[in-house]
Amino acid sequence: MFNLNLYQEKLTTGFIGQSIQYYPKLDSTNTKAWNLISENAVIGTVVVTDNQTIGRGRQSNKWISTQGKSLTFSIVLYPNAPPNRINLYSLLAGLAITDCLIENNINAQLKWPNDILINKKKVGGILCESKISGRVIKSMVIGIGLNINEDIEDFSISLRKIATSLMIESKEQYQLEIILASILNHLENRLKSKESKSQLLDWEKRCTHLNQQVTFRNGNNIVEGLFNGLSSTGQAIIIINDDELKFDSGEII
Ligand code: BTN
Repeated sequence: MFNLNLYQEKLTTGFIGQSIQYYPKLDSTNTKAWNLISENAVIGTVVVTDNQTIGRGRQSNKWISTQGKSLTFSIVLYPNAPPNRINLYSLLAGLAITDCLIENNINAQLKWPNDILINKKKVGGILCESKISGRVIKSMVIGIGLNINEDIEDFSISLRKIATSLMIESKEQYQLEIILASILNHLENRLKSKESKSQLLDWEKRCTHLNQQVTFRNGNNIVEGLFNGLSSTGQAIIIINDDELKFDSGEII
């Protein structure tokens, strides 16, 4: 069950999460958020569930979460911004999540474009989907999955090597509603800030592979190079054979 009072007590935003829709069970909060957009959901609407059954991840992956122990939620935005800003939104969401974790004394890091890591294991991910029309991003859903109170046994054997939760890392239990409100508070601050250069620097400071050799997959291409940071629109800059290449999408493997 979702403790609405606790959530509202902690929420300090002007618009993000002021409207919240809680469902005990949903296929995907991103899918539900898109349904709500087609019914004119207000900006900042948050969809959250305790039990997401068909969670969607990036690159057509599944997102698996544990009922009642994970945060799975989506945020509705109407950015009205140029399409080349899409990457910035998911980077800001990653920053907001790490703001919250760092505030809880958890040393969380970021992997381009939007994985949240603790001690090199994945604790959270972001699926940012958008609809573009007339050269602007009309609507956007930022979906966030964050492992919170899972024990190691909650993960499948194959996931145990690569996934973790806040509880596994800190040996503490967390109230999901408080973590949710804190992420939303930080996200609104990040979205409102006009300091995009300093936000990109913040991201680079938390990046686990800045100035390191990486293997990068872009579509069917796999390349090796030096991750040299972010462009002004959040693209990955990778130096390959002395050429500086910028990527909008792909993943570090
Ligand atoms: C990834 O790392 O591949 C992104 C995972 C994003 C999962 C979240 S959980 C809430 C929201 N609803 C979904 O179906 N997916 C996102």
